[in-house]
Amino acid sequence: MIKNNAPDFLGLEGRVCVVTGGGSGIGRAIALGFATYGAKVVVLDRNLEGAQSTVAEIVQIGGTGVAVACDVSDQASVKAAAANSAKALGPCQILVNNAGVLGSGTLDTLSLETWNGMLAINLSGYFLCAQTFGEQMRAAGGGAMVHTASIAATYPTVNGGAYSIAKAGIVALSQQLAIEWGAVGIRSNSVSPGLTMTPMTAQAYSKPGTSERRSQAIPVGRVAEPQDIANAVLFLASPRSAYITGVDLLVDGGLSSNLLSLIPRTGSHDQ
Ligand SMILES: NC(=O)c1ccc[n+]([C@@H]2O[C@H](COP(=O)([O-])OP(=O)(O)OC[C@H]3O[C@@H](n4cnc5c(N)ncnc54)[C@H](O)[C@@H]3O)[C@@H](O)[C@H]2O)c1
Repeated sequence: MIKNNAPDFLGLEGRVCVVTGGGSGIGRAIALGFATYGAKVVVLDRNLEGAQSTVAEIVQIGGTGVAVACDVSDQASVKAAAANSAKALGPCQILVNNAGVLGSGTLDTLSLETWNGMLAINLSGYFLCAQTFGEQMRAAGGGAMVHTASIAATYPTVNGGAYSIAKAGIVALSQQLAIEWGAVGIRSNSVSPGLTMTPMTAQAYSKPGTSERRSQAIPVGRVAEPQDIANAVLFLASPRSAYITGVDLLVDGGLSSNLLSLIPRTGSHDQ
């Protein structure tokens, strides 16, 4: 990736952007995308090494970034990270809530501990970061938030545990933020990725042929790369989307529109 020297089309030059979970996968692509367009990036992750390696890539392309260790499910950790990031690069103007974990299980046997653990990171973590970094945005007169939800928010999978439920909560949280904070100049939108190749999902794709088989169900003919999701996030974070708030943007290559093509059929006229 190289730094983009074209005119500042996205209007992100010099903006202070915080990306949670920026040490891997989709978050890393988002952080690098911001840097490409001249934004200053706080890479926040509970895996400090991962965050540092993203920052090393940002520096390599001539960008500005800082790695901050943070567990988004821990309020004290989020508050400390917000103070540290403001000290390093200035008040947050754009927040990308993205740090998340996968979980599995069925609700008949899911333990309360597992349920709470999932919601703590994948939903409460989003709330804590929105509230804490939102304070900096309000003091500065506004900003933008983008929250990584999932196609699973609308289309749960069997054995998905509390993941889909947390993701549906993120879409609702984003809308709630949009209506509460619109008046103080803060927009809030979510992006729902479809099947995306990242370290989180690497195991699922490790079996030969999986990617090809899954691609057949996706109208654009391939599984997403992190960059595909980052492109949508960058747009929703930028002033180019100034009149868009409270929206969930599905970035799934058409997978969810293909639902009726996936059911078994007995003949060509069988609808
Ligand atoms: N990969 C997919 O197919 C897919 C699809 C839909 C949605 N998503 C969502 O996209 C987001 C990014 O996922 P990814 O695929 O890039 O995964 P990933 O595992 O590659 O990256 C997730 C990052 O979040 C960090 N993280 C996890 N828990 C944290 C915590 N408590 N505090 C701080 N950081 C924490 C991890 O250290 C990691 O760096 C997640 O919210 C995920 O649910 C992914």
